[in-house]
Amino acid sequence: MDYFIGIDVSTTATKALLIDSAGAVVAVAASEYPFETPHPLWSEQHPDLWWVGAQQSIGAVLKQAGINAIQVAGIGLTGQMHGLVLLDAAGVVLRPAILWNDQRTQAQCDEIHRRVGRSRFIQITGNVALTGFTAPKILWVKENEPEVYAQAAHVLLPKDFVRYKLTGEFAMDKADGAGTVLMDLRHRDWSDEVLAALEIPRSWMPPLFEGPQITGRLTPVAAQATGLRAGIPVVAGGGDQAAQAVGVGAIREGIVALTLGTSGVVFATTGGAFIEPEGRLHAFCHAVPDQWHLMGVMLSAAGSLRWYRDTFAPGRSYDDLLAPAAQVDPGCDGLFFLPYLTGERTPHPDPLARGAFVGLTVRHNMAHVTRSVLEGVAFGLKDSFELMKAAGLAHIHQVRVSGGGARSALWRQILADIFDSELVTVNSTEGAAFGAALLAGVGVGAWPSVTAACDATLQVTGSTQPTEAGVARYRQVYPLYRDLYPALKPSFAKM
Ligand code: XUL
Repeated sequence: MDYFIGIDVSTTATKALLIDSAGAVVAVAASEYPFETPHPLWSEQHPDLWWVGAQQSIGAVLKQAGINAIQVAGIGLTGQMHGLVLLDAAGVVLRPAILWNDQRTQAQCDEIHRRVGRSRFIQITGNVALTGFTAPKILWVKENEPEVYAQAAHVLLPKDFVRYKLTGEFAMDKADGAGTVLMDLRHRDWSDEVLAALEIPRSWMPPLFEGPQITGRLTPVAAQATGLRAGIPVVAGGGDQAAQAVGVGAIREGIVALTLGTSGVVFATTGGAFIEPEGRLHAFCHAVPDQWHLMGVMLSAAGSLRWYRDTFAPGRSYDDLLAPAAQVDPGCDGLFFLPYLTGERTPHPDPLARGAFVGLTVRHNMAHVTRSVLEGVAFGLKDSFELMKAAGLAHIHQVRVSGGGARSALWRQILADIFDSELVTVNSTEGAAFGAALLAGVGVGAWPSVTAACDATLQVTGSTQPTEAGVARYRQVYPLYRDLYPALKPSFAKM
C-alpha cells in the first residue's frame, strides 16, 4: 500500500501526518518551537526551527507507523501563511522570518496603497495591504535593514523554506502566493504591475504551482536527514487555510468551512475570482486548481472563550462552564460581547479595536455572560458571512465546522441559529496536514482530482439544524451587535 505525508509548518509546531491510500490517518507527530517578540508588535521565527521540526516529525511518524520508508509515495506541504523568508543567492537565510501576526508594517501598507492606488491594488490582488501580509514586510526590510535587502535574492513563505530543504527547489503554491498580495488574483500569477510599483524584482519570486502539482523531488541529502527515500515527489500543497478547507472538503462553491480555533475563519470556495470591493474579506486562490476563495479572519474566536475561562473561571472545564449557558435564552437578555480582544481583521481591520461586554444589568448572571461570549464570537463570524453574500456568493448551502470550539454542541447550535444554516462536522479532525496529504495523493495519481480525494475520504459525521425560535431571535438582535463597533470605535482609538 502507498502512503502520503502532509507536513504543516505552523506557528507553534511542525506537524507530520501519515495517511494511507484510503485516507486513513496512520500516524501523527509534532515538534514544537517558540516564536520571538524582540519588540512590541513584532513576531519572528528562525526558519531553521521549521526544518528541524520537519525532520523530527517525519522521523517520528515513520517510527510510529512502522512502515518501510519506500512505501511513502508523496509529500504535501502546508503552513502558516504570509511569513517573509528572505534568502541570498546561495540560499542562505538572511534574517529571522517576519510572521503573519507581526504588526510592524502599517507605514509600508499605507505606502503600497499610495504607490499602486488603493482601489487598483484591490482590483489586482483582491485585497488591501494588511500588516500581516508579505509585501509590506519586504518594504520594511528595504527601509530598515538595507544591508539585508541588498543581499536578498529569493522570497519564500514558511512551508516553502521546508520545500527548499527537501527538494533544493524554489517553488510556491498559488493559494499561499496570493497571501503575499503580490499576485494578480484573476490570472493566478505574479503581478508585474504591483512588483514594479514596489520595486521588487520578479526574479526574487519563485515559480507558482497549483496545489497538487509536483514541485520537485526529495534530494539524497534530505532523504538522509528524514529517513525517507530520495526522489519522492513533493507537491505544492497550500497555505494553512486552503489546505484546511481541502481537509474538511470545502472544495465546491456553496460549501463554507468555519474553523473555531484560537482565531476564527470563515472560508468560502468560489468558482471565480470574487472580490469584496473594499477589500474587507481576503480573496486568495484555493489549493484546488482553478478555484478561488473568500475568507474572513476573526483574531480571537475560541481564543475569546479561553481568555474568559482562564480569567474568570480558572481551572473549570469547558463542559462545566458552558452547561448553565445552555439554559439562557438566545440574545442573553440584551447582553453583548465584542470579541476584539487582540484587535480585529474581518470585518474591521483595526489593531486598536477592543473587547467589551455591553448591556449588563443586575439581572445578568455568570451563565448570561458565558453565553454572550459564544454569541459575540458567532455574530463576529456572521459579519464575514454577510460580506460574502454581499460580494455575490449566492448559494451557501452547508457550513462545515472544525477546530476546538466546534466540540461544543451549544456553540454549534448558536452558530447554526445565527448563520441560519445547517452546520456539519466531518470525520477528519487533522485539518491542514490532512489536506496537504490528500494533495500529495492527487499529485501522484492516487485520486484523479482534489474533489475525488475529498469525496473518497471525507464523510459527514454530525449535523446541527437551525431552530425557528433561535433564528428569529438572533435576527432581531444581530443589528444591535452591528451598531456597537462603530459606536465604540472612537473610544477604542483613545484607549
Ligand atoms: C491567514 C492567516 C493565518 C496564518 C496562521 O490569513 O493569517 O491563518 O496562516 O495560521
